[in-house]
Amino acid sequence: MSPGTIALIVVAVSVVAWALFMLNVTVRRERKAAIATAPAGTAAADRTEAESTSTPADVESTSGKEVTVEKVPEKQRKPLTSGQLAVSRRQFLNRAWTASFSAFLGFFGMATLSFLWPKLTGGFGTTITVGDHKELLKQIGPKANFKPLFVPEGRFWLTYYEGTGDAPVYLAVGAADAKMQALYRKCVHLGCSVPHCEKSSLFECPCHGSKYRLSGEYYGGPAPRGLDRFPISISGGKVVVDTGDTQIGPPRGTNTWDAFSEPQGDLCVPT
Ligand code: FES
Repeated sequence: MSPGTIALIVVAVSVVAWALFMLNVTVRRERKAAIATAPAGTAAADRTEAESTSTPADVESTSGKEVTVEKVPEKQRKPLTSGQLAVSRRQFLNRAWTASFSAFLGFFGMATLSFLWPKLTGGFGTTITVGDHKELLKQIGPKANFKPLFVPEGRFWLTYYEGTGDAPVYLAVGAADAKMQALYRKCVHLGCSVPHCEKSSLFECPCHGSKYRLSGEYYGGPAPRGLDRFPISISGGKVVVDTGDTQIGPPRGTNTWDAFSEPQGDLCVPT
């Protein structure tokens, strides 16, 4: 059950409970008013009188505990007349108004919640199916000169990975099994988007010059660590990336893939 459905059920139950409460209050108020205005000698008036004249004799003691027993005089047991049982026009209007106002509030509340509730049905923050695993390996692997693929929908770079996976984060993202990684393109220094430099095979941030290896590990600049990344799983031969579960990048000094530990050519952003 989605969070939106749960919220709607909670709101609906609350509104119904509130409506029942209000109905109860209204009915009690009307009963009191009817009793107060009932002519002497009617059942309602007799009941009022009996309540006001109850004596200490009504209180009995049972095993040390005081229990109040209401003794209803015989004359109060007269059935109410049809006129007393009937609902007056004012009562009917009051109840109808309360019910319709409650229904309006309920529908309005549900519609507002439904409108405001985030609908994460795709894009960044959700699970994204990128494509066929084998095809993607060809696209970003040795045959494609290790050129990473940018997935705009998930804001990540899909990169080939053949390192040792010796840092804890590699286990968390499933890099060794999938032979690839989904690197969040957001620079961990101050958040700029980090492009890939084909010449150096590094990710080089244009803002303050932070540099990251193809594996997303820290190479240079002011960044405090390697690029953050998302878990990858293979489902039915498809690569699935969970962009709602960001994993913190490996610390400075991590180097799990010797082949790309140094730039492969000139830098795009000189230091
Ligand atoms: S934001 Fe990338 S280096 Fe500062």
